[in-house]
Amino acid sequence: TVYSEESVAAQKVAQHIAEIIRKKQAANEMAVLGLATGATPIQVYANLVKMHQEDGLSFKNVITFNLDEYYPMRPDAKQSYVTFMDEHLFSHIDIPKENIHIPDGTLPKDEIADYCLDYENKIGELGGLDLQILGIGRTGHIGFNEPGSAPNSGTRLVTLDDLTRRDAARDFGGKENVPTKAITMGVGTIFKAKEIILMAWSKKKASIIKKAVEGEMSGNVPATYLQLSDNVRFILDEDAASEL
Ligand code: GLP
Repeated sequence: TVYSEESVAAQKVAQHIAEIIRKKQAANEMAVLGLATGATPIQVYANLVKMHQEDGLSFKNVITFNLDEYYPMRPDAKQSYVTFMDEHLFSHIDIPKENIHIPDGTLPKDEIADYCLDYENKIGELGGLDLQILGIGRTGHIGFNEPGSAPNSGTRLVTLDDLTRRDAARDFGGKENVPTKAITMGVGTIFKAKEIILMAWSKKKASIIKKAVEGEMSGNVPATYLQLSDNVRFILDEDAASEL
């Protein structure tokens, strides 16, 4: 779906998320949401905060799993996805702390594999993600599933692409300060979500969106795997859709 601009699209996505939460509330169930970081979902989160503050939308029945975190990364660092999520969403809403899951960037290396399996299992035990929202990196990554990721990959430690680290350089004051690795949900993990929404705004994303939507499916552009799923929606602004 193409919207005239980001603000309209972000509002639609936020309304959809609110609907899921309210429907689950009415059924006395938990809403299990897969969340993303980066500039792309910021306005979605701002809209959710507004709905909490102005319309009384409660997040008490919400459980969240974030896609990824840099590795190594301290949660209190200003570039951590923990800090990002607090700043843009969690500190402004009534979600119980224990319902929030973000991959732990402080683990010793030899504990990561077990941790990742556990992350995966927790999602499964809750009945899977009701919705996963995604941005897209210029390498075609979803989460931090860089080129070369397998379609059935699970949550794991990955090495970041050079382009991804260059794109993150501004947040870290230079590429040399960007961690070389990250923990990310896998393509397979994302695929198990009951519904997936990939969002992209601006001309900067137009060429990768063209590849993701119309390009040949390939591990070189992990987002092309989404072509395999019937539960995926691309929500774009006109600029991101301009090469389709
Ligand atoms: C990061 C995140 C991705 C995100 C991508 C795009 O690498 N790990 O989940 O989709 O950046 O970022 P932005 O939304 O800032 O363009």
